[in-house]
Parts: sequence; C-alpha cells; structure tokens
Amino acid sequence: MSQCNLGEPWRVQMNADIKAAADKHPNVRVIFQDAQNDTLKQRSHVEEFVSAKVDLIIISPKEAAPLTEPVAKAYQAGIPVIVLDRAVLGDQYTCFIGADNKRIGRAAGQWLVKRLGGKGNVVELKGLMTSTPGQDRHFGFREAIAGSGLKVVFEADMKWLKPNAQKEMESALSRPDRIDAVYAHNDPAAHGAYLAAQAAGRHREMIFVGIDALPQEGVAWVKQGVLQATFQYPTGGAEAIDVALQILSGKQVPKKIVLGSRVFTAENVDKGGEPLQ
Ligand code: FRU
Repeated sequence: MSQCNLGEPWRVQMNADIKAAADKHPNVRVIFQDAQNDTLKQRSHVEEFVSAKVDLIIISPKEAAPLTEPVAKAYQAGIPVIVLDRAVLGDQYTCFIGADNKRIGRAAGQWLVKRLGGKGNVVELKGLMTSTPGQDRHFGFREAIAGSGLKVVFEADMKWLKPNAQKEMESALSRPDRIDAVYAHNDPAAHGAYLAAQAAGRHREMIFVGIDALPQEGVAWVKQGVLQATFQYPTGGAEAIDVALQILSGKQVPKKIVLGSRVFTAENVDKGGEPLQ
C-alpha cells in the first residue's frame, strides 16, 4: 500500500480501514509505505514494490501525471494495481476506486447557491490542482454556480493542507470584498479558514463548507456549528481489500468502482446525514 501522505487524518483513516479489512484475512499481509507528501518518494515506493515482486499494489497517488509511469510499469510487469481516491492518467492499472469528486463539487455548489439565496461572495480554497480530486471538486463546483449570483472573489491552491488554507484565508480577509461563504475542498482547510476568520473576529459573517466528513473532524465541526456543511468522501480502504482479494483469486473486476457520498448539515447531522441526490 503506497500512501501519499499521513499528515492528514483522512489518510490515517484510509490506512486504518485497509488494515482492519486485511486483518480479517490471515493469509493477507499489507506492507504500508508513506511518501510523506513527496512525489519522488512515492515513485520509488512503487518501484520498490515491483522489485520486491509483491502480489498486488494499492496506491493512493499524490499527483496524477508523475505517478502514471511507475503505476503503468508495475501493471505491465504483471502486478495488479488498485488506484485509490486520486487517479492517474490513462488506463494502465487494474481498477480505480473512489467517490465522484465532480459530483461532490457540484453538490457543494448547488447547496451553497440554495443556502445563500442565489447570490453572494465565495472564497474557494482548492486542493492540490495536480491531483484529480482538486480538479474535479473545482470544476464540479464552478459548473453548479455558473449562471447564479455567486461570485468567487478569492481562490487559492492550499494543496490539501490546513496551515496553507489558514494563510490563504488571511489574505482573503485582508481584501475589501465581503465574504459570505468559504468553499474548501477538504474539511481541514475549511477548519483552517474558520480559524483565520475567527482570529480576525469575522467568523460569524460567513459560512464554511468542507469535504471528507470524518466523524471526529467534519461531522463534529458541523455539530459544533463551525462548518455549515460537509460532504462525505469515503476512504475506500475496505473496498480496496475486497477488490484485491477478488483479483488475487482470479476474478474479473470492474475498471472503475464509484463510491457514494452523503451530505451532513445542522439539520440532518443527528440522523447521520443524507445521501447525495
Ligand atoms: C487527504 C485529502 C483529503 C481529501 C483527499 C483527496 O490527503 O486531502 O482531505 O479528501 O485527500 O484526495
């Protein structure tokens, strides 16, 4: 299992989900590698797995383009590869598992248009734009707000990291525009933006929307009224082990498995959120 980073709680959860699913099968051993947010390190991890002749590789790649080649090489060497959550380019892998980020971005846009009554100023804190979830969450959102009175007055790539989001939000707050909402591509960034607004005494002027919905993060923050909405992004860890076992027992698996998502708001959080429409 090649994990791109373990600095974010969502990725710690992904590894925990993989481990819990694998632990149910005494004949399965998972070797975890953490690339510490370093693309070159992650490339080497994949190459090392190939040299070690592992039976199967699961990878959650940091970025699409630079990880495409090592994944393709592994696949061409006859090692099945499951790509999890963030995609690579092309089709040289066995199976991709992940939620539909464009759909999630679109749902966040539609939710904000409705919640703001069709108009307002938005700050968009984007995930790493060389990774597919960042691109899809951005374009889905823009599609949904196109033609509405919502205007993005500030946007920045916070590369999925809370400290970056906090800093970018400070810049947004230093500008003259009123801010009605922050759309952050993940919950840590939404929380970072909230902390920046709070430090400026302005958190009550705007609402905060994030993505991930981990119980101890996004969902808890919705309960506390820190975030007004979070959209679930399942880790797919358990599904990856399930698919790995199917591949290893010679079964045919689909090229793409799309996971569902739920939205959590103040109104529905106590009953476990609602599935996306
Ligand atoms: C963690 C993370 C999540 C996000 C996912 C997208 O690294 O940033 O917060 O949903 O990656 O791949």
